Amino acid sequence: MSGGGDRPRVVLGVTGGIAVYKACELLRLFTESGHDVTVVPTAAALEFVGAPTWAALSGKPVAADVWHDVHEVPHVRIGRSADLVVVAPATADVLARAAHGLAGDLLTNTLLTAGCPIVFAPAMHTEMWEHAATQDNVATLRRRGALVLEPAEGRLTGADTGKGRFPDPAEVFAVARDVLDRSGAANLLDLSGRHVVVSAGGTREFLDPVRFLGNRSSGLQGYALARTAASRGAEVTLVAANVSLPDPAGVKVVPVQTTAELRDAVRSSAPVADAVVMAAAPADYRPTEVSGTKMKKADDGSAPVLRLAQNPDILAELAHDRPRAGLVVVGFAAETGERGRSVLDLATAKLARKGCDLLVVNDVSGGRVFGSPDNEAVVLDSAGGRTPVPRGTKSALAHVVWDRVVALLGDG
Ligand code: CTP
Repeated sequence: MSGGGDRPRVVLGVTGGIAVYKACELLRLFTESGHDVTVVPTAAALEFVGAPTWAALSGKPVAADVWHDVHEVPHVRIGRSADLVVVAPATADVLARAAHGLAGDLLTNTLLTAGCPIVFAPAMHTEMWEHAATQDNVATLRRRGALVLEPAEGRLTGADTGKGRFPDPAEVFAVARDVLDRSGAANLLDLSGRHVVVSAGGTREFLDPVRFLGNRSSGLQGYALARTAASRGAEVTLVAANVSLPDPAGVKVVPVQTTAELRDAVRSSAPVADAVVMAAAPADYRPTEVSGTKMKKADDGSAPVLRLAQNPDILAELAHDRPRAGLVVVGFAAETGERGRSVLDLATAKLARKGCDLLVVNDVSGGRVFGSPDNEAVVLDSAGGRTPVPRGTKSALAHVVWDRVVALLGDG
């Protein structure tokens, strides 16, 4: 870390959109977890949330222009000493000024002097985000190495909805932490220009309008994969089956319920993807008949007999019949081992059977892994390689998976 003890130094640039109130929460998340934060607002941001709020929450004085404390040359010092600059929310205006290298205020000066990673979390009305000018500016900033997150979709300031929402502050914080953790990496944005599809959660197969067959998948690993891919610069489609977690920042979330819906969503995105990671637990079977009304208990006390049909194996289908040459296909396997066959024996056979490029194997003997923030795994590849991943966070495992995907994608 550059100076300031061992506390990471973060510059939080806040700009003038209504979502700026959410940056107060982001600031708290940084300061409460031991970051040294300098807030640099634009003049427009101060129209929404005043300097005393930023000063109180960051514990530091706040300036928006370059004319304060000139003897300290703040327009150079703040940028040079930062470990990370996060501009959140980033308006269309600040994206334009940053793309063109304008330096009319302290924030844009800081952006020009920062030698550290820069993350923009844009928030604006859909028309402004989709305008060719904004899209060109975003492309310019990305080409120069900034991480510009895609805004979320949903309710905007008025009654309207669309793309342009500021993501959940905790999710912006998670991306920022991820970028800080990897700031020594040779290529921080090694998934930039790539489109990845991740499936997460567990599908439900309905018996009637209220009952279903399901499984214990929490979606945590798939969400960690999506979040980390976005922080490495990928365009991410997350097909989420029955997951109750906040949408990761910068990620397009497609909610599904059943295995058939999951299959449709994955197959419609796969032809334009560079990699598909099947972290979801699709139900292998579905009832052959779904009752349109709630099933009643039989008066004679007899139990119903369920007839099940097997669902298609989405991973095997994709791996054996790739919709795009060079598509990298990654599966997950939860194994317990059985008599005479170890977890790795079973997983090696599964990798060959499914035809995928990588298989991430978890040992789930005794109900381990489900819902836990940690994971321990071995990543098998189709050439016979084995990469053990020691017990650690699901994000750490996700990064190992992306490292392997990046290696398989090569420069193509
Ligand atoms: N998978 C899939 N479609 C299914 C079932 C599973 O794409 N209908 C994917 C999962 O997303 C995961 C991998 O396949 O990536 C898990 O393999 P699977 O064969 O389902 O594991 P098990 O159900 O444990 O298989 P088995 O009981 O045969 O060991």
